[in-house]
Amino acid sequence: MSPHIQQVPPKQAPIDLLLLADPSEDKIRSYLHQSQCFVASHDGIAIGACLVQALAPTSREIKSIAVHPDHQKAGTGTLLLKWIIGFYRRSGVIQLEVGTGSFGYQLAFYQKQGFRVTGIERNFFIDNYNEPIVEDGIRLYDMLRLTLRLDRTNGQMTAIS
Ligand SMILES: CC(C)(COP(=O)(O)OP(=O)(O)OC[C@H]1O[C@@H](n2cnc3c(N)ncnc32)[C@H](O)[C@@H]1OP(=O)(O)O)[C@@H](O)C(=O)NCCC(=O)NCCS
Repeated sequence: MSPHIQQVPPKQAPIDLLLLADPSEDKIRSYLHQSQCFVASHDGIAIGACLVQALAPTSREIKSIAVHPDHQKAGTGTLLLKWIIGFYRRSGVIQLEVGTGSFGYQLAFYQKQGFRVTGIERNFFIDNYNEPIVEDGIRLYDMLRLTLRLDRTNGQMTAIS
């Protein structure tokens, strides 16, 4: 059965899930209360969560998105991301941004929904985290900034050019 997705007040955000995406609880709490929070739940239990912050009236940044490890690779993350894209498109937002590592399946996860690389923040993961972040045995140094334009052209989403 498909998970139920809804917006919840930031104070109800499942921090334990969000820590899978951002290993610093202090950092999460620093943007939590300026964010909109979305939760995917199954039988009333949160299995996925996402925090989104306003950058400007028509642009938003996905600060973190995560799915519980027991439920990963089953389509929940893609469903949640697509739901959020639809939510913001209907709200009149024209640009969604996200920062992610420079390699790994997370990069493809966003690119499959049309996000394009629009910048690089060199040494971001060294400068902003006390502990090294390692994925697939490779240390993460640089953050890619990805952007999705929600403008419609011929009824379709267009990626930024
Ligand atoms: C990224 C994340 C939210 C995706 O959620 P999900 O429910 O697993 O997503 P989906 O099931 O829709 O899978 C999307 C793709 O990611 C791949 N994937 C998901 N988890 C994976 C993992 N642990 N290892 C390798 N690939 C993985 C899936 O195989 C799928 O690939 P496909 O489209 O080629 O089939 C989730 O894996 C997660 O919470 N990861 C840890 C936190 C994180 O890295 N968040 C993003 C920060 S930038």
